[in-house]
Amino acid sequence: MYKARIIGTGFYVPPKVVTNADLAKLIDTTDEWIQARTGVKQRHYVEPGMCSAEMSEYAARAACQDAGIDVSDIDFIYHATLSPDHLMPGTGVMLGHRLGLGGVPAMDVRNQCTGFVYSLASAQAMIETGMYKTILVNGCEIHSTGLEFADRGRDVTVIFGDGAGSAILTRETRGEGYGILKTVLHADGKFYKALWCEAESSCEHPRLTHEMLDDGRIFVKMKGKLVFAHACQRQPEVMREALEGSGYSLEDVDAFVFHQANLRIIQYICGQLEVPESKVHNNIDKYGNTTAATIPIVMHEARQKGLIKEGSLVLISSFGAGFTWAASLVRF
Ligand code: UT7
Repeated sequence: MYKARIIGTGFYVPPKVVTNADLAKLIDTTDEWIQARTGVKQRHYVEPGMCSAEMSEYAARAACQDAGIDVSDIDFIYHATLSPDHLMPGTGVMLGHRLGLGGVPAMDVRNQCTGFVYSLASAQAMIETGMYKTILVNGCEIHSTGLEFADRGRDVTVIFGDGAGSAILTRETRGEGYGILKTVLHADGKFYKALWCEAESSCEHPRLTHEMLDDGRIFVKMKGKLVFAHACQRQPEVMREALEGSGYSLEDVDAFVFHQANLRIIQYICGQLEVPESKVHNNIDKYGNTTAATIPIVMHEARQKGLIKEGSLVLISSFGAGFTWAASLVRF
């Protein structure tokens, strides 16, 4: 039985910055409301022509460089996303193609905000069993082309941004207590309509109609307060579960990597668990919620600023549509 470790991270966001003031020109909102209710100041949007396979390639190459490996060392690809470039085939195969990895298996994971942690867990298990050795775990979203720039969608539209983030996992060689120590995953489909995109839909005949377009059913809908409440409840639970049996307590954790859905959710959790601000890196102000890309982007920036160093004990936590929620305890 091997253990898995994260040896490199990287990310890419498209250059175009869209501020709250820019959105306020299109929809009935204000910079004050968005900042106060979410913590977002700006987000990045792709320009026409940029697809998520391309963004993911840039993030993946950066992660390989950070890890000090050659792209050809990758023997499996996980691609987590809720916004694939096409309904079929998965974007992971397109990413593999762009990386020149013909023949290397690639799998798309559709778990929204927890997609990266679900992929991490799967990669961890594959490495632990010896099935694969060096795995690219990538998360990428293009939200901007699926947002409703009208007053009806303003609660959702102001939150999301585009971006890609990657991590390289391989076998741990440093001995006991290092690498990915424990990952915990949960889902409860009872709430699938609390945060969902109804159309297009394989159970409709046909899948996409003019009515669906006219009704705005192609846009994400969210019961914001319900999602908020569950995010605040489930993340502390799953964080404690990840620590259970590890021999570590919350105080032992050097850095916390939170999904960036709403700054108030993170502040609430930190208050409940008495996590000091100095142990948390947030970037929702710069990027908004980039869903499956968020965790690797936060992780990379936390490493860049020295919050996560070699030997740091890190607790990753996420919550999102499904509902799904997940946490991972990692000794870097
Ligand atoms: O990543 C997946 C997980 N997602 C989340 O965790 C998101 C969880 N939910 C949230 O972050 C928050 O619920 C939102 C940011 C989406 C909304 O904030 P809220 O404080 O829950 O606002 P609300 O939906 O209860 O709306 C309060 C008011 C309403 O006006 P009235 O009815 O009080 O007159 C909304 O119409 O704020 C209004 N509102 C806005 N006003 C200006 C909603 N969106 C906007 C907006 N700008 N963008």
